[in-house]
Amino acid sequence: METNTEHKFRDYEAEARDTVKTFYRLNHTHQTLDFVKAKKADYLALNRREMGIWEAMEFLNELIDDSDPDGDFTQIEHLLMTSEAIRKDGHPDWFVLTGLIHDLGKILCLFGEPQWAVVGDTFATGCKYSEKCVYPEFFALNPDSQVPEYQTEYGIYEPETGLDNVHLSWGHDEYLYHVVKDHLPDEALYMIRYHSFYPWHNEGAYTHLTNAKDRQHLTDVLMFNRYDLYTKTDERPDVEALKPYYLELINQFFPAKLRW
Ligand SMILES: [Fe+2]
Ligand SMILES: [Fe+2]
Repeated sequence: METNTEHKFRDYEAEARDTVKTFYRLNHTHQTLDFVKAKKADYLALNRREMGIWEAMEFLNELIDDSDPDGDFTQIEHLLMTSEAIRKDGHPDWFVLTGLIHDLGKILCLFGEPQWAVVGDTFATGCKYSEKCVYPEFFALNPDSQVPEYQTEYGIYEPETGLDNVHLSWGHDEYLYHVVKDHLPDEALYMIRYHSFYPWHNEGAYTHLTNAKDRQHLTDVLMFNRYDLYTKTDERPDVEALKPYYLELINQFFPAKLRW
């Protein structure tokens, strides 16, 4: 029995690796600068729905993410586990709230976007691809790799232009940032907008495009990132018991409805 279990476990691992590889092949192939600009033009009009934060959490909970290795938990559970860990460490209200909402941009999946246009690590488009991105070999499949203007160190950008001016690959970070940007402090907005930008915050890539403000807020993104990871042994949160506290917290910062 033991060996059998072990064997199955290995198969699962191989399959999971394969799924991740396929995901990044699609992501790196199709996330061109034009694709990013088109998604921004479409989604950042924020004309699809009007929802409050808790309503958006319940909407997102309809999403079952098969490819997520942490798929044991629902989307609401992941959000609450993140925010509760931040709260237990005594961080300020806005930080706890950031944990609660950080992945709400994944509702893009429910608007029909494929996984590769919603989740995964992000990278800068319109300039040379970084070798520090995951599976960098797949960038050769991206049509932008054939555009010389996009393949210089700075590409279409000025040195130290600031990440605000850089078109990162499209996904849930950028989308949520635009939904909530008028209601939270800069620290929170950095955490939300760049939490998937691993090549930058984890690998030190793209620093030549960052400005002083980005470099100042890198520590916030890193601080947040510790709470976005958990193990399968983590305890399942009691959603109904926590709801009153979080509704109150949401009310402190957000209007009853936001445009999505
Ligand atoms: Fe995320
Ligand atoms: Fe997350």
